[in-house]
Amino acid sequence: MADTDPLVLAVDQGTSSTKALLVSGRDGRVVARGVAPLGESQPRPGWVEQSAEELWQSVRAAVRACLAGLDDPGRVAGIGLSTQRESMVLWERATGRPVGPLVSWQDQRTAGQCRELAATGAGELVRARSGMPLDPMFSALKARWLLDEYDPGRTRGRAGELCLGTVDSWLLSRFAPDDHVVEVGNASRTQLLNVATQTWDPDLLDLFGVPAGVLPQVAASSGPFPAARGLDPLPDGVPVLAVLGDSHAAMFAHGGWRPGVVKATYGTGSSVMAIGGGTGDSPGLCRSVAWDLGRPMLAVEGNIRATGRTLSWLADLFGVTPEALLAEAGDTPPDGVHFVPAFGGLGAPWWEPDAVALLSGLTLGTRRGQIVAAALESVAFQVEDVVAEVERATGEVRVLMADGGLTRNDRLMRLQAGLSGRTVARSGEHDLSALGAADAAGVAGGLWTFDDLEARPRPAEEFAPSIGAEERRARRAAWHEAIRRSRPGASTKAYERSGG
Ligand SMILES: Nc1ncnc2c1ncn2[C@@H]1O[C@H](COP(=O)(O)OP(=O)(O)OP(=O)(O)O)[C@@H](O)[C@H]1O
Ligand SMILES: [Mg+2]
Repeated sequence: MADTDPLVLAVDQGTSSTKALLVSGRDGRVVARGVAPLGESQPRPGWVEQSAEELWQSVRAAVRACLAGLDDPGRVAGIGLSTQRESMVLWERATGRPVGPLVSWQDQRTAGQCRELAATGAGELVRARSGMPLDPMFSALKARWLLDEYDPGRTRGRAGELCLGTVDSWLLSRFAPDDHVVEVGNASRTQLLNVATQTWDPDLLDLFGVPAGVLPQVAASSGPFPAARGLDPLPDGVPVLAVLGDSHAAMFAHGGWRPGVVKATYGTGSSVMAIGGGTGDSPGLCRSVAWDLGRPMLAVEGNIRATGRTLSWLADLFGVTPEALLAEAGDTPPDGVHFVPAFGGLGAPWWEPDAVALLSGLTLGTRRGQIVAAALESVAFQVEDVVAEVERATGEVRVLMADGGLTRNDRLMRLQAGLSGRTVARSGEHDLSALGAADAAGVAGGLWTFDDLEARPRPAEEFAPSIGAEERRARRAAWHEAIRRSRPGASTKAYERSGG
């Protein structure tokens, strides 16, 4: 790479860390990286919070680390940003100061309100307009909780003194305090946006008690967004060329604008996604706006709450790192142990906020290795449950594209291929959300075109299914039995639909 080539800085603000990549503006190759961790807290059972200020500082730290070896930061021609989705921040417009905590997408504090709303029959309207089932994971009920707590009469909200936003919206407000904007794909995950018209839905705003005045303006994925500021050593004023939801960005980097591409991102949680398709007969899936780079692209998607988080929870419990835990377990089989990581209920395809996490099949001979094996299997089983639903909506899925931190683990990739009976193609780049943000920024900024991206090599390592059909069926049936036990009193409809 010539030292004068322009560069694109990509920032992926994820749940457990912020990653930054510097890519060549000529061919999209990664030339530098930086990462900064991000903490979370659980002040009460089911509550999960992060600090909006710490999150912004983690973005600054990741960018600093990424640009450390760069002689001339002025070569950065533009920025691509991808962000964790659904988490909500409330801040004061005048001061930019957060009001209350950042309520994480993992947070379940609104489960009771969700149940009450469901009992009124509102679920149908919510699904029809937003494309998503009524569930505490989405932002709408978190928005209501923040407003009920900090502006119960909605007077400050109506007077324009407060801003509500997703993580992209919050970060963009750090660049320009007067701008209150959200990218359309992120907005579509709030459950307040009409997925068909890509505008805030007045009936949904009414239902969730959110005045329009506290919400950001919805922008296409290519903006316009405020230029970056405060990302030392980057000079102020570098344009933000594209913003995408993290899962959407990973999809983009897989070349996911093409029909037939199905991907799973293995981060803190997981998202299985494909462009197009209807969800008419797939109530376990969501319809989201993937991105709008000229025209809005819709996607079908299923979300799993705990995949990487299951491993990091176990690692915390045992006082080791996830890497050490996985290394220690080696190839130990689960020996009949099942782990349903429904820490905050179950997401797709069950959408069961009241499901309980459970470990089953323990014997006096059970050791850490078996529990780790069951945790890894839970990741693969959960992902396959959603892939099977996506297959029903979009057609046969022979190859599952894979990315995210947890795909570093070879055993998981082998398990996924075996338990799914599909080829798994692991991306050569784990931090694909960042790369997708860079790819989209390059398109939006005119550095390259979709045709260039089509022609770009996407190195991936393939894992072929190695478990026979009969054994696969038996193991999935045992998993579904464990799922049934974690859903006391629930209908077994979804279970039967995707069972076996
Ligand atoms: N070397 C490793 N081997 C296996 N798993 C790992 C390794 N390093 C990290 N992980 C797992 O990857 C997860 C983090 O992945 P990633 O960085 O993709 O998530 P994230 O971007 O922070 O979250 P999300 O995308 O859900 O917002 C951790 O929960 C951890 O369990
Ligand atoms: Mg991520």
